[in-house]
Amino acid sequence: MKTDFRIEHIDPIGQGVSKQEGIVTFVKKSLPNEVVTADVFSQKKGVQFARLIEVKTPSPERKTPDCPHFNECNGCDYQHTSYEKELEYKKNALQRHMFKFPEISITTHGAKRRLGYRNRLQLHYDKKRKVMGLMNYKQEIVPVPDCKIVDPSVAYELRALYAENNWLKVVEKETFKGHLELYSKDNNLGGHNVKVSLNRPYANGGFTQVNSEMNEKIRVFIQKKAEEIIPPKAVVYDLFGGNGNLTVKFRNPTLVVDKYRTTPSPSAHQKFFSLDLYDKGAIKSLIGLKATGYPRPDWLIIDPPRSGLKNLNEFLNEFKPDGFIFIACEATSFTRDTLGILGQYDLVSVDIFDLFPSTQHFETIGIFTRRKKND
Ligand SMILES: C[S@@+](CC[C@H](N)C(=O)[O-])C[C@H]1O[C@@H](n2cnc3c(N)ncnc32)[C@H](O)[C@@H]1O
Repeated sequence: MKTDFRIEHIDPIGQGVSKQEGIVTFVKKSLPNEVVTADVFSQKKGVQFARLIEVKTPSPERKTPDCPHFNECNGCDYQHTSYEKELEYKKNALQRHMFKFPEISITTHGAKRRLGYRNRLQLHYDKKRKVMGLMNYKQEIVPVPDCKIVDPSVAYELRALYAENNWLKVVEKETFKGHLELYSKDNNLGGHNVKVSLNRPYANGGFTQVNSEMNEKIRVFIQKKAEEIIPPKAVVYDLFGGNGNLTVKFRNPTLVVDKYRTTPSPSAHQKFFSLDLYDKGAIKSLIGLKATGYPRPDWLIIDPPRSGLKNLNEFLNEFKPDGFIFIACEATSFTRDTLGILGQYDLVSVDIFDLFPSTQHFETIGIFTRRKKND
């Protein structure tokens, strides 16, 4: 059903919100104060979702998206406005999630490149329907041969996969429906460093950050903070540490813990331990390390997947670290997991790093220190 909506504001995941006749409607890719025509495609629990058809009264903030797939593809959320506005919306989103926290100023670290940054891209395919791409609002696959957020080497390989439906040969021996991932470790032009992995959870033998430039910014930031607040001999546990990316240049003895063991960096101060940190027995397994001579942690670096770490308080109650750095790729899990521990820990700083420009996602980094007994 096509209807006109006046958009009031943007919600924390970048959707325009309209409230008309008591019904809340979410319209992606619209902006505050715009009047838009949109088609309602889903209704549940008193709210509805509508697909933008036409912008009747455009906002002065509106710009033409750089990517030709932006209107159809669900991968990006903010290319219809400036990067400054995108960062402002992201900061507002975090602020809204943090309304129960003591007031603290949030510092935003924007990216140099809003496009051409992703060093890997996961695409869905359906061999019967001969289609490969990203999902649209109806969870249908949309071809994205000219995706603009991938780096030049991935873009080159992406076009080669689409040319003459070459991807069909690549997935010849695979299931009818699945996913393939293009990934490049370094951003060389020409595509020869890009590889394809098929139907695996993480390409390239384990997790790697998608935005090399911003990952480096985060590493430098965490390193600098660690040198300021973590004493040199303090023991650090780098939980959900992947290949030890965040603590690779630490001076502290560090235990990197991750379920999926990846190629560790050759650093003398880091040791690696494979463990499912969501398992009920995870804390017990970490305590058990004492028997092997590994000391308990004084500080924790915690960088979980989107689902966060719901039982963060159990880790803190057991290890009572002097502090911890929490890195969250979902603002909702950042606030859910850390709000309950504010009686024991002070939130010292909050920073946003825009690791995923053009999309609704961003990284939130909070630094927490243990309260002294007489505080
Ligand atoms: C957001 S990434 C962070 C990785 C790393 N800190 C970095 O900067 O590259 C989340 C990590 O959690 C790991 N992971 C996912 N599920 C896990 C689990 N159940 N137990 C332990 N690690 C898990 C993934 O392998 C991945 O390395």
